[in-house]
Amino acid sequence: MLVFKTIDETRKFVSQARELDQTIGFVPTMGALHPGHLELMRRAKKENDLLVVSIFVNPIQFNNATDLKKYPRVLFKDLEMLKTIDCDAVFVPSVKEMYPEPINKTFDFGPLENVMEGAFRPGHFNGVAIVVEKLFEIVEPHKAYFGEKDFQQLAIIKSLVEMERIPVEIVPCAIVREKDGLAMSSRNVRLSPEERAMAPRIFKVLKEVAGKAGEMDPVLLQQWGMKQLQAEEAFDVEYFQIAEDATLQTIVNWQIGQGALAFVALKLGQVRLIDNIRINS
Ligand code: PAF
Repeated sequence: MLVFKTIDETRKFVSQARELDQTIGFVPTMGALHPGHLELMRRAKKENDLLVVSIFVNPIQFNNATDLKKYPRVLFKDLEMLKTIDCDAVFVPSVKEMYPEPINKTFDFGPLENVMEGAFRPGHFNGVAIVVEKLFEIVEPHKAYFGEKDFQQLAIIKSLVEMERIPVEIVPCAIVREKDGLAMSSRNVRLSPEERAMAPRIFKVLKEVAGKAGEMDPVLLQQWGMKQLQAEEAFDVEYFQIAEDATLQTIVNWQIGQGALAFVALKLGQVRLIDNIRINS
């Protein structure tokens, strides 16, 4: 496995691969890899000739300095994990390598960025879009793989690719869960044993909400779900929303053919967790 710290080395590797007509599957990450990441990577490796991964804790997508400081950084362990899945190259740039100068670019994703994560984390998606665009420009992947746990991020990235006409196929990948239903996340390692025991309740409520969709209208169902989450003292709920998959706007009436999901973000102790579930109304 090749490990590149610079943009130049990475570009050289991918341009050689492209000259040989090899396809590149790319999985961008912020490290602290878990089995959910590995699932994306195995798929990328299976569907392409080469697997390229990036590990970069992108400071400009954090709207909270403590969250950035506490974000787990375990590069040595990550590299060991990558070796087990036959990764071809990993790009691990420094902040200076990625951002030699301050960046002032502002994207406009319209209503997609004003709800849920966008409303609670100002500037977050702009930071994500800046880094993803730059990574795509460096790695020039044929396909890039993103987990559906960050469903709104996925929508933003699809919109970015369309807006900037970036020639890459975005491949959404299903959420990978622990046996007890907790969505896998790099942040889970920061949960105390008591918080970790509590966390699967999030998915249980989501499943209950999905199960009730046939019998309740979306506004009442949203209120019901919120109440279940707020009933848990340990949960500091930021939002619980039932929204349309394409627009991410709140659903007020079920409509035939419309895709719906329930989305949640909450703090459990110091750790912010998000999750979602598809609803078949
Ligand atoms: O989902 C993530 O890990 C990050 O937001 C991403 C896409 C790697 C950009 O920093």
